[in-house]
Amino acid sequence: MTTQTTSAAADTTAPTTAPAVEIQGLSKEFAGHLAVHPLDLEIRENEFFSILGPSGCGKTTLMRMITGFETPSSGRVRLGGVDVTDVPTRNRDLNMLFQSYALFPHLTVFENVAFELRVRRVAKAEANRRTTEALELVKLGHLGDRKPDQLSGGQRQRVALARAVVSGPKVVLLDEPLGALDQQLRKEMQYELKRMQREVGITFIYVTHDQEEALTMSDRIAVMSEGVVQQVAGPEDIYNRPETRFVAGFIGSCNLLDVQAPAGAEGEEVAVEVPGVGALRGVLGETVPTPRAGTLLLRPERIEVRRAGEGDGVVGVAETLTFLGEEWHLHLRVGEHLLRASVSSLVKERDLPGLAAGDRLSLSWRPQDARIVVR
Ligand SMILES: Nc1ncnc2c1ncn2[C@@H]1O[C@H](COP(=O)(O)OP(=O)(O)OP(=O)(O)O)[C@@H](O)[C@H]1O
Ligand SMILES: [Mg+2]
Repeated sequence: MTTQTTSAAADTTAPTTAPAVEIQGLSKEFAGHLAVHPLDLEIRENEFFSILGPSGCGKTTLMRMITGFETPSSGRVRLGGVDVTDVPTRNRDLNMLFQSYALFPHLTVFENVAFELRVRRVAKAEANRRTTEALELVKLGHLGDRKPDQLSGGQRQRVALARAVVSGPKVVLLDEPLGALDQQLRKEMQYELKRMQREVGITFIYVTHDQEEALTMSDRIAVMSEGVVQQVAGPEDIYNRPETRFVAGFIGSCNLLDVQAPAGAEGEEVAVEVPGVGALRGVLGETVPTPRAGTLLLRPERIEVRRAGEGDGVVGVAETLTFLGEEWHLHLRVGEHLLRASVSSLVKERDLPGLAAGDRLSLSWRPQDARIVVR
C-alpha cells in the first residue's frame, strides 16, 4: 500500500534500502509521565525484531505508536521510507496482533481469517485462496469449519496469527502473543512463529518480557527499561556484551559488582578494586573519559572454579550448592559479596569431586569476561 514512488529514470531493479520501520525522536507522555522517552530505532526488512522489557516499561505504547493507535507526543514514524506519522492505521501497511486477541465467536475459523479480506473488498475467489493459504501456513487447514470455542488455546492463537498475515502486510506487530499459553505450547508456537516469519518474509516486531523467548527467536532485540531503549543488538551481543547494568541483570543471570571504573578506551584491560575482595581484572565495556562509578558484570558460567591453592584467582567459600541436572549452581562467599557461579555436571564430577559447603575455592576468569560499564 505504502510503496515508494520511483521516477522513470530510477533503476527499479535496485533493492529498496529503506528500513521496514524507522523511528525518529518518538516519545509518548501520559499526564506528565514519559511512558516512552524520545527514541530512534531502525527495523530492517524481513527482520524478526523483539522488544524486550519488564511490565510497564512502554513496550505496548511503542507498538501502538508504530501502528497509529496512539498519537506520539513527538517524533516521526516511517514505513518503507514513507512518513506515516499522520496516516491513519487502516492506511498503514501493517497489522497488529494484540496482547489479548479476540476471535469472532459466531464466525468459523475460515470466516475469522477471511474477515479482513472481506473488509478490504478482496474478490471472493482470491479471498478464499489466500485464506486457505494462511490456514495451511498455521497448519489449521483441516479445522476451517470449526467455531473458536471448539479449539484449544494454541489453535485459537494460530487462527489469530493467520488473520494477522492473511492480507500480506509488510509489517506484523505481535504484542506478547504467546502469553496465555502453557510452557509446552509456548515452545511449539515459538518455533512455528519463527518458521512462518521466514516463510512469508514479513517483518515481525515482537513484544515479550520473556528473555529466553527473545534470545531464541530474534534477529535483533531492543531491551527497554522505564521508557528508555537500553541496547539494540543481536541475541549473542545482548547476552555477552551488555552495555548497561540493567541489560546484564535482566538477560540471564549476572554478578553485578559496584566498582570505580578507571578512565580508558573501550576494550582496554583494567584492574578495579572491589572492597573486601581485592583487585579484579576486567575490560572496559565502553570508553570512559574520566574515572566514575560503574559496575563489573560477570556471568556465573564464565567463572572457573578450582580447589583453592591450585590457582591464583580470588578465593571464595562455597555456601550453597544446587543441582540442576546439566549443571550446578554455587553461591560463593567472597569477602562481603556473594558470587554466583555455575559449573557443568561433568566438570563438577571430574575436577571437584566431593565438593561441599564450606570448601575453599579459587575463582578465575578471562579479563574479557568481566566487563565494566558505567551506565
Ligand atoms: N492510556 C494511558 N494513560 C495513562 N498512562 C498509560 C496509558 N497507557 C499506558 N500508560 C502507562 O505507560 C507506561 C507504559 O505502559 P505500556 O502498556 O506501554 O507498558 P508495557 O511495557 O506494555 O507493559 P506490559 O508488559 O505490562 O504489557 C505504564 O506506566 C502505563 O501505566
Ligand atoms: Mg504491554
